[in-house]
Amino acid sequence: MEALAYEVDCWQDFADVIAAGIGRVLLYGPPGTGKTYAALHAGTSTAFAERLICTEDLTAGEITGTWMPGREGVFSWREGPAIRAWRGADGSGARLVLDEVDRASGDALATLLAVTDSRESARWRHPETLEWVRPGPNFSVVMTSNIEELDDLPSSLLDRFAVRIRVDRPHSGALSQLSVDLREAARRGSVGPSDRRVSLRSFYAYDELRTLYGANRAARLVFGDNADAVLDALRVGALA
Ligand SMILES: Nc1ncnc2c1ncn2[C@@H]1O[C@H](COP(=O)(O)OP(=O)(O)OP(=O)(O)O)[C@@H](O)[C@H]1O
Ligand SMILES: [Mg+2]
Repeated sequence: MEALAYEVDCWQDFADVIAAGIGRVLLYGPPGTGKTYAALHAGTSTAFAERLICTEDLTAGEITGTWMPGREGVFSWREGPAIRAWRGADGSGARLVLDEVDRASGDALATLLAVTDSRESARWRHPETLEWVRPGPNFSVVMTSNIEELDDLPSSLLDRFAVRIRVDRPHSGALSQLSVDLREAARRGSVGPSDRRVSLRSFYAYDELRTLYGANRAARLVFGDNADAVLDALRVGALA
């Protein structure tokens, strides 16, 4: 019988799911842990990835495409990132990364539902050539979000994403960009309770600034009123 006790590592889960060819994955959790980076890079070595950042103002045209005015007032169709990802470089499909997906609403949300539908159901008519376009076999979507609870996403969208991975730690590749003495503090600090969380991006800035201006000034510039607390934590970490 398969052992039930194993260490759950969200990044290993993500790698395994992508390796198994699962084409719809949601990564959610605290900011700055490497979700977008992993979504763009994991399993996409041979294809290019398209990225779409969702906002309240996102329009359907920014997803599937829009008419653009050209010379002498002639309009031509500019294909959007979702359809480009359906096609990929050679028609076989590529990765679509949908960042901050909880912010999409209205028309944009309806379009995202159509774009992320199963391969069998999804199709879109090119308004210029009138050809029917379908997602290529290698089309995949990774959505990212900072939501804490899955209920904060529309259930219709969630339903298309059977694998949802809560990211509860920074990616080791992201930590390795930091000086060695900061890694442990950044690992713990970047996923703690939200009111005490210190983003990995802040540690990156601190790491760069301290080489120029020393630890105290760098901490004040980056961490503001929390500078002393962060420096104390770093000292304790260094002694531990
Ligand atoms: N595997 C990695 N190797 C190198 N750098 C990384 C890696 N993962 C993340 N980073 C770096 O860490 C920073 C944060 O990563 P990313 O933007 O992917 O986080 P995120 O979880 O998507 O954050 P948010 O939720 O705020 O969008 C970026 O500067 C990114 O380049
Ligand atoms: Mg992101």
